Amino acid sequence: MTQDLAMSPSDRPRNVPAAVATDVDGTRFDYSPYATSYRQRADYVPAVVTSVLRTAGVGPGDLVCDIGAGSGHLTVPLLEAELRVDAVEPTASMRAVGQSRTEGYADVSWYEGTGEESARPAGVYPLVTFGSSFDRTDRPAALRETARILEPSGHFACLWNHRNLEDPLQARIEEEIHERVPGFTYGIRRTDQTGLIVASGLFETPVTITGEQVFRLPAEAWCEAWTSHATLGQQAGAGFGDVLDAIRELVRKEAGTWIDVPYVTRAWIAQRKAPGGKAPR
Ligand SMILES: C[S@@+](CC[C@H](N)C(=O)[O-])C[C@H]1O[C@@H](n2cnc3c(N)ncnc32)[C@H](O)[C@@H]1O
Repeated sequence: MTQDLAMSPSDRPRNVPAAVATDVDGTRFDYSPYATSYRQRADYVPAVVTSVLRTAGVGPGDLVCDIGAGSGHLTVPLLEAELRVDAVEPTASMRAVGQSRTEGYADVSWYEGTGEESARPAGVYPLVTFGSSFDRTDRPAALRETARILEPSGHFACLWNHRNLEDPLQARIEEEIHERVPGFTYGIRRTDQTGLIVASGLFETPVTITGEQVFRLPAEAWCEAWTSHATLGQQAGAGFGDVLDAIRELVRKEAGTWIDVPYVTRAWIAQRKAPGGKAPR
């Protein structure tokens, strides 16, 4: 297992293009077709989650709002860190998976809502998180809503898991994808969020936290999890099944029962500015 935790207030994470996209990737995008297999996806690199919590200054007993909580991939580590979590999720089937996955935890409540309209009370959260969901929102609107529900000195965090595309097998998978879906792009989920966060005028310059870990996963389940890849599913359209078959075939040939997949978790964390001024320290 490798783990490489890097933190910088201004540097762009490795391999992330500098473009600051402001378009909406898909507000209220319906995740229902992806709900069953989403559960199979890899975890976030634990050291990155720990570092986000440390940067936000939250600890056991604090109340966090996890938006676009889905099947609970981020909600669970937040609960494991003994935080209390209000999980907000617009898609009923994703919420159902998340609820069932977290039913053993006492300190979690699930709500229907979005990043733009969370319906949560104002000024109560020291931390609001978006695990692979910020790109699904109208991001400036989601930042305004986040600032509304945060405590005055609270923090916003968004994070994504990226496969390391320099890994030889992952590079071959990329080739298969691009061959079948010309012009395929990961869009906002692989872009630097810094400019957009700063441009909102609501947050200080974000700290970026990056960590890599190789996850050893059952190859079949990993292939199955590709069916939950909404970004690819949207762009592949009717050809999505063919792309999934090609990935499955390649993995069957190249990996055994288990597959080692290097993932990089990338997080941006920013403190809310006090209205009309700097963020309180
Ligand atoms: C890629 S999944 C991430 C789920 C989970 N947070 C995780 O870390 O794996 C994206 C989630 O965002 C939700 N979503 C879609 N539109 C949204 C919006 N406007 N605001 C908040 N969440 C949204 C989807 O329903 C889906 O559950």
